[in-house]
Amino acid sequence: MKSQNLQYSEPIHSLPPGHERAMMSLDERLLLYALVYAFQPQRALEIGFAKGGSACIIAAAMHSRGLGQFVSIDPAPDIPPELARHPRFHCMCGKSPEAVPLAAKALGGTVDFCFIDGNHNEDQVYADSVAVTACLSSVGYILYHDSYYPPVARGIARFLKEYSDFSDGGTLARFGGHTNGEHYGGLRLLGRVNMVP
Ligand SMILES: C[S@@+](CC[C@H](N)C(=O)[O-])C[C@H]1O[C@@H](n2cnc3c(N)ncnc32)[C@H](O)[C@@H]1O
Repeated sequence: MKSQNLQYSEPIHSLPPGHERAMMSLDERLLLYALVYAFQPQRALEIGFAKGGSACIIAAAMHSRGLGQFVSIDPAPDIPPELARHPRFHCMCGKSPEAVPLAAKALGGTVDFCFIDGNHNEDQVYADSVAVTACLSSVGYILYHDSYYPPVARGIARFLKEYSDFSDGGTLARFGGHTNGEHYGGLRLLGRVNMVP
C-alpha cells in the first residue's frame, strides 16, 4: 500500500515547565494539554489562575500550534516566571463573573475555549457559565475542573437545564480524588450543539 503522509513522526509533546503548579492530577494535565491542542482556540479564557499551573499548560498547547491569545482571571494571581513574558498569555486581576466580558473584550472577540476552575460554589459555577456563554463563539467549548465535586456538578446541571444549546460531553477523566472527605477532580466538557466541522 502506498504510504501516506501521516503525522506519526511528529515530536512527542510533553507537559511544559510550570505544569507542576497545577492543582490537577497528571491525567487531567495531559488531557487539558491534548484538548487545547485539539481545539486550536484563537481566543481562550480561564477562570481561576491560582499559581498558574493550568495556565502554563493552556498557553503551551496554544503556543505549540502557533495560535491564539489567552486571558486568565483571578483576584489574586501568583504569576510564575514561565508566564511572565509569554507571548500568548495575559493575566486579568479580577473576579468572575464580572470580569468575563472585560476579558473577552481584551481578547478582541468571542471566546472559543473556556476553562472554569474558580470558585467551586454552586451559584458561582452557574453564574460563571452564564457569563461565559454570553461571549462564547458558536463553536465554543467550556471545560470545568472538579466536576466530581458536588457543588460544581450541581452548578453545571443547573446551567445545562436552562441552556439547551449546549451538549454535554461528560466527565472525561474517570477518577477524581478525595480531599478532606470531599470528592474533587474530574474534567467535564460542554460544547455548543450547533458545532459544525
Ligand atoms: C482551584 S484554584 C485554580 C487552580 C488552577 N486552575 C490550576 O490548576 O493551576 C481556584 C482559583 O480560583 C480563584 N477564584 C476564586 N473566586 C474567583 C472568581 N470569582 N473569579 C476568578 N477566580 C476566582 C482563587 O483565587 C483560586 O486561585
